[in-house]
Amino acid sequence: MDSAVLAAALTVIRGTILILMGAHAAAAGDPMVGKASAPLCAGCHGHRGEGKVVGPEAIPSIARQHEAYLVRSMRMYKTGERKEKVMNEIFGRLSDEEIAGLAAYYAGMKQRL
Ligand code: HEC
Repeated sequence: MDSAVLAAALTVIRGTILILMGAHAAAAGDPMVGKASAPLCAGCHGHRGEGKVVGPEAIPSIARQHEAYLVRSMRMYKTGERKEKVMNEIFGRLSDEEIAGLAAYYAGMKQRL
C-alpha cells in the first residue's frame, strides 16, 4: 500500500475512534446535568472543584479527577460502602444520572486548581 493511501486510511480510522469515544463520553454522563447539581457541592469543594484545607477540615479536590474514579467514589458514598456522613446523605438523594453528570462535569474542568 502506498503511503498516501495508508495515511488516508489512518485518518479515517482515527476519526472513527474519536467519534466512538465522543459517543461513549456522552452516554457516560452529561456535564450539563452535573452542572445543575454542582451548587450542592460548591460550598465545600469550591466553585471549580478545587477543594480546600481549613484547619482540621480537609476537603479533596475533585476537578480533573478521572471520571471513572469520581463515579465509583460517589456510588460508594451512595451505597454507604464508603462512609462520610455528609457525602452519604447527599449521594443517597442523587440519581445515577446526576452522579454520572457530576463526574463528567468535574472530570472535564479545564484546570486543576
Ligand atoms: C459539607 C461539605 C461537602 C459537600 C456539600 C460535598 N462534599 Fe464531597 N467531600 C467532602 C469531604 C469532607 C470529603 C472527604 C470524605 C472522605 O474522607 O471520604 C468529600 C469527598 C468527596 C469525593 C471523594 C474524593 C476522593 O478523592 O476520593 C467526591 C467525588 C465528592 N466528595 C464529590 C462531591 C460532590 C459531587 C458534591 C456535590 C453533589 C459534594 N461532594 C458535596 C465534603 C463535602
